[in-house]
Amino acid sequence: MIVHVFDTPAQVARAAAAVFSAQILKKPDSVLGLATGGTPVDTYKELIKLHQDGILDFSQVTTFNLDEYEGLPTSHPESYVAFMKRNLFDHVNIKQSRLPDGLNKDHQKECAAYDEEIRQAGGVDLQLLGIGNNGHIGFNEPSDHFVYDTNLVDLTPSTIKANRRFFDSEDQVPRKALSMGIGTIMEARSILMIALGEGKAEVVQKMVEGDIDPQVPASILRAHKDVTVLLDRAAASKLSL
Ligand code: F6R
Repeated sequence: MIVHVFDTPAQVARAAAAVFSAQILKKPDSVLGLATGGTPVDTYKELIKLHQDGILDFSQVTTFNLDEYEGLPTSHPESYVAFMKRNLFDHVNIKQSRLPDGLNKDHQKECAAYDEEIRQAGGVDLQLLGIGNNGHIGFNEPSDHFVYDTNLVDLTPSTIKANRRFFDSEDQVPRKALSMGIGTIMEARSILMIALGEGKAEVVQKMVEGDIDPQVPASILRAHKDVTVLLDRAAASKLSL
């Protein structure tokens, strides 16, 4: 695990966009794993700028997102489909993008199909991750074991509370989501994790310096051979590096 610390979130976003750019320039038909939430928004803005400036071409790129809420209509502005359209897909020329279908009532079938489609696409070359305050990656919540495949997840009260800021009230935050499993994430050839702000400092310290523990799902990343972590000073403030 390589950890880089930058002075500002803006620098983190530019560094993350540089990693994505290198991947796409090296392999124009890359398969990218994408994330939602507050953390990657500025990275997506940088990627859009690079595309608009004629530097990055996504025309052969395929993307798979980490997760989607269960049962939230895709027309809802906080569905992850809507988020991705607004923050990236509507502004670049990605060939094909896929998110788990949170409206498919046959969750098991949908999750199995999702993992199979990732495999058929050749696997994820570069997976972008944020980290939850509780250490989740995707929506793999703290637990006594790691779940391997894409699955239907019960969101924990802390995640529901954290995502409350995107909805009018806590009642409106969906309670379940379809998420890539830990195994799906770990199969990516390389992983780029971004964490910003003081609120993430404690969990970042546990991820980087604590034991590998399913109670801190992100700690499993230390067992992956190609993980780059980009932090701003605030998120890095509890590291003893
Ligand atoms: C998003 C996802 C989550 C977020 C995490 C951090 O697709 O899977 O793991 O990355 O909850 O969210 P933010 O960036 O809003 O702090």
